[in-house]
Amino acid sequence: MKSTDQLISDARSVLKTNDQGSFTIPAHGIYPHQWLWDSCFIAIGQRHFDVERAKMELISTLRGQWRNGMIPHMILMNHKKPTKHEYIWQSDHSPFSPNMVGTSGITQPPVLAEAVWKVGQKLTKTEQRTFYNRMLPALIDYHQWLYNDRDPNKEGLVVILHPWESGMDNSPVLMEALKKHHHPIWIKIIDFLQLEHLAQLVRLDYKRRFRLIERAKTIDELHMFSLQRLLDSQQYESKQILRKPHFAVQDVGFNSMLIRSNQRIIEMAETVNQTLPNKLLSSMHQTAKSLASLHDPKTGYYFSRDYITKKLIRVPTIASLLPLYSGCLNNEQAKQQLQLLRNKDTFWINYPIPTVSKSSPSYESQRYWQGATWVNSNWLVIEGLNHHGFHKDADELTKVTIELCSNGGSREYFDSLSGKPLGAENFSWSAALTLDLLSQIKN
Ligand code: GLC
Repeated sequence: MKSTDQLISDARSVLKTNDQGSFTIPAHGIYPHQWLWDSCFIAIGQRHFDVERAKMELISTLRGQWRNGMIPHMILMNHKKPTKHEYIWQSDHSPFSPNMVGTSGITQPPVLAEAVWKVGQKLTKTEQRTFYNRMLPALIDYHQWLYNDRDPNKEGLVVILHPWESGMDNSPVLMEALKKHHHPIWIKIIDFLQLEHLAQLVRLDYKRRFRLIERAKTIDELHMFSLQRLLDSQQYESKQILRKPHFAVQDVGFNSMLIRSNQRIIEMAETVNQTLPNKLLSSMHQTAKSLASLHDPKTGYYFSRDYITKKLIRVPTIASLLPLYSGCLNNEQAKQQLQLLRNKDTFWINYPIPTVSKSSPSYESQRYWQGATWVNSNWLVIEGLNHHGFHKDADELTKVTIELCSNGGSREYFDSLSGKPLGAENFSWSAALTLDLLSQIKN
């Protein structure tokens, strides 16, 4: 295990390598743009050594905000040689997209308010008020957009319209929902003629020599790509898409993060004496209540719901544990989640927490969001454990997470059985959240 000083210096140098001035890319090569929840996690780490830079990281996410309030999951760089991303997103197809930058047309988990609140904790009272006043209008517009556009029946739970919006792209839960409703004929042909190996040649990660055994499966990537084309053809217009959706999921992870961020917005509004619109407040309260409808009493887990079939998708993944992070569980409910987490056959395995339960048939210890261990999802659970007073468990998980990065470097994700480092090297949020976790150990 490296010394704390060495770990801090390594992590800071990763962030420096990926720093683009006012924002940070996730990693060179495969992730050459700005991603929304990445920037939030990055700022949470940056605040420990350069709070002004952390503020800038979050302010820079607002360059991409759409006129309807949506904050996109990607802000595209203007590369000399355009990447696949520039070709596929075409955000100017929507009348709401910003003029100055190209963006994606979908969002990502709403952790921005949480990040703003946390960066604010490092500021003096006056600076904090100025920063919160600067960010709150955009955050309010964003959350109002989530409720207006993504909660059509006013159930309190918002839907995601693409697996990428969950941040956990190829989670088996999302792949199950997607393949149930989205059947493009060209993918059927590729599948039938077993041409997957040809299709993989166009993959960015394949071209960059990533081992495909640890990435999303090609067939899953094709489905996600095809759904993106469909959303583009509908100008990313939620109401139109929801008339005949090919994918719509009340994602338990996304909604848990929304609940936590809603709470942060309420706290920040109090700090600056701002009154929030009543309609927004009542939607916020409703989400905290409605999360209970995703609970499955039989297994004790929370599950995402397929909005089209109205059925829970009963595959235990890391998202199932994120209600712990939401902050809206009572003690008894939180204890039940802790028990599920500490089960040695499912989630508390060699290098916890795998993104899919080890007992699930879809679990693969090395594969992306299908069983590998990620630093950001561990961090979310650690936050939840501490929130509920489970400090011993939080500390244990913190140590494992730091150990993974100490042995393997700030990699994108890790084999949940062997701890082997996988995916992109010098990955920003792994570095940033290591800094945040180290600060908790030191204090
Ligand atoms: C992948 C991840 C997503 C992340 C992005 C950039 O698409 O699934 O969560 O934001 O890479 O790091």
